[in-house]
Amino acid sequence: MVLVLLLCDFLILPVGVWAQDRPYPIFTADHLDTTMKTLGPNWAGVRAALSEFDYRIAKQRLSRTREQLATTMTFWRYREREDAMGWLRAALTQLDALDAALSVEVVESAVLDPIVTRVAEYCLACHAVYREQVLAGQYELRLNARP
Ligand code: HEC
Repeated sequence: MVLVLLLCDFLILPVGVWAQDRPYPIFTADHLDTTMKTLGPNWAGVRAALSEFDYRIAKQRLSRTREQLATTMTFWRYREREDAMGWLRAALTQLDALDAALSVEVVESAVLDPIVTRVAEYCLACHAVYREQVLAGQYELRLNARP
């Protein structure tokens, strides 16, 4: 048993080292799926907090949403999808605008809604092209949508 474990260790280690030596950061379709699945609830959390005027929590969840969404740029850049990168950049810009609007001393709730709507529009623009619903509430990447 010990021998088997040692052997496994030996086999696994070189693969790990090899993966780290790859010249490009690898952001797979699985990474995209996981990232979207975590940022979805964070973004929903931003909206929920805003509806309760809890700007502190909204800002916290917003910063997580932004961080997670930003990492997905690698996926589209590597596949040279300019349209996706455009929507992503626009979504990030609006998330920054929302953060700025939440960072003033007296938050003006009226300016928040239009920004939230614009963020959602850019999420949707990309989803309309690159996301496919396979079952109710279950989504997949549709990469062959564009050449
Ligand atoms: C540049 C393209 C793009 C942008 C922008 C984008 N997404 Fe996605 N998103 C995708 C793709 C592609 C999928 C399908 C991937 C999968 O589920 O395998 C997806 C899936 C999702 C899912 C479903 C995950 C699942 O499988 O259950 C959620 C939730 C989600 N996105 C939320 C968001 C939110 C919120 C935003 C905006 C703040 C956003 N996305 C912006 C491309 C994008």
